[in-house]
Amino acid sequence: MDWAVILVLHVMFQPSLSVLFTVEAERTMYESKFGEDVVMGCRFQPKLSNHQAALQVMWQWFTSTLIREVYHLDDWKQNVATQDPDYLGRVVLLTEELHKGWAKLKISRLRINDSGTYQCLVQTGEGADYKTTTLSVVAPYKSVTKHIEKAAGGDDMLLTCLSEGYPESPVMWQNGQHQTLSSNTTSVTTPEQLVQVTSRIRVRSSAKDSYKCIFTKDGSSATFQIPDEIPVPQKRNDALIVVLSIGVIIVALIIAMLFYRRQKGFRFHCTRNLSVDGQGKSDSVAACIAKNKDNEEEITIFNEGCMEENLGAFLKNHYSNFSLSTEMTHHCEAFAVEELPHRLQNNEGKSVSLQALLPKAGEVVFLEGSPGSGKTTVAHILVSSWTEGPTHALSKRVNLSTVRFLFTIDCNRVKGDFFQEIKMQLSLLEKTEDELRTLLTSEALLVLDGYREGNHFFDESLRKFVMEREGCRVLVMSCPRHCPILNDTVVTGRTLQIQNKV
Ligand SMILES: *[C@@H]1O[C@H](CO)[C@@H](O)[C@H](O)[C@H]1NC(C)=O
Ligand SMILES: *[C@@H]1O[C@H](CO)[C@@H](O)[C@H](O)[C@H]1NC(C)=O
Repeated sequence: MDWAVILVLHVMFQPSLSVLFTVEAERTMYESKFGEDVVMGCRFQPKLSNHQAALQVMWQWFTSTLIREVYHLDDWKQNVATQDPDYLGRVVLLTEELHKGWAKLKISRLRINDSGTYQCLVQTGEGADYKTTTLSVVAPYKSVTKHIEKAAGGDDMLLTCLSEGYPESPVMWQNGQHQTLSSNTTSVTTPEQLVQVTSRIRVRSSAKDSYKCIFTKDGSSATFQIPDEIPVPQKRNDALIVVLSIGVIIVALIIAMLFYRRQKGFRFHCTRNLSVDGQGKSDSVAACIAKNKDNEEEITIFNEGCMEENLGAFLKNHYSNFSLSTEMTHHCEAFAVEELPHRLQNNEGKSVSLQALLPKAGEVVFLEGSPGSGKTTVAHILVSSWTEGPTHALSKRVNLSTVRFLFTIDCNRVKGDFFQEIKMQLSLLEKTEDELRTLLTSEALLVLDGYREGNHFFDESLRKFVMEREGCRVLVMSCPRHCPILNDTVVTGRTLQIQNKV
């Protein structure tokens, strides 16, 4: 900083020296997206005379009241001591460009508050100069989450659209005739300084119409068809019960039939393998081919079986993309071996093994611990242990071989409802809610990391899922008393605690 001030004075009061040496900004402004990277450049002349030439480069961000040192290269070494912590680990100077006369700064994982004016100062043996440029970081409103609920008092419905981006976007609503409707739009700022915009309208549930919300800044939208999309009301009448019962019987018959055919599909697959292995049995091969034609439907069903197999592999692959550094892995393993056995307790205060974390089929386990007690580390251990299987260092302590699919949700960033979050967080966008339901069975383990009630859509849909689910194992990790409603919903849950480190 001091160096910068001196340099500025030096540039101002010694024009004779700086006449020879100039710095030019590559552009007067840059626009980039939240979470992405940007490279901003300043060109200086004359170029460096040799590889050891004296050189100082300083990039600073400033407003009228605040200066942050972004990057300081002092005699070819980065000076991290004075770097602003906001930029720590996110900026590099492209040193290979220096000899071409460019001081190029790359900022990664852009934040909203990286926006503003930047100044690049360069000093070589020939002189010193500086220029400014501005950076504007924006976040497009990409996906819109929609929600329908019954309005309190009356037959109206409340339609809600939610999205986040930066800067704030107005929301426009239109009906099927493209007439603009008035709405109630509110916004809050997230910890990442994105603006979360929620917009609601109240509509008559009896009138057939479509409604569209448009986040006008980026044009993203969602459409509701009323009354088609109105959820089936809780209060059932007799006619509905009859219709539903018939529906249930038909569905049961279809499932039974599919199951029977699928069994056949598997058997058929085995037969084909056998016939290929047992060379020369042309009869059975021919028979298979004939059967193949007859039973295309069976093959599709068999393929669906395969897709479920693939889903396990898909999820494992997904998790391995987020695998931890070696250092973190060691930390997790040490934590699991040295600390957890003492700190993991049941509700009677008795120590329990790591295996107790795996809920039995149909069971809900609550793992409670105050912030920093290691819940997320436990989630990492479970995910990596499941992903790696028997080769994992902790596979003897926690055996997840009965778990065919592990679904984990980071509850700190939930915005939509339960199924939307599974789809978004696990990249299962093409799966429908019904498909997900059929996967969330006793062979599945659902891990909710850092759950805290407070997001209406998510809480309500999760509670419904937990009540209706069949067999799915659920592990809820939260701080004590952060999920009272879910706790009350689950009558026969088991609670474990991670004690704080003593
Ligand atoms: C808009 O919605 C908010 C939150 O739901 C509510 O507090 C406010 O009264 C509503 N405003 C209008 C004009 O309806
Ligand atoms: C910039 O935003 C980050 C979070 O995105 C925050 O941690 C940091 O304190 C902010 N810096 C300033 C100067 O506001």
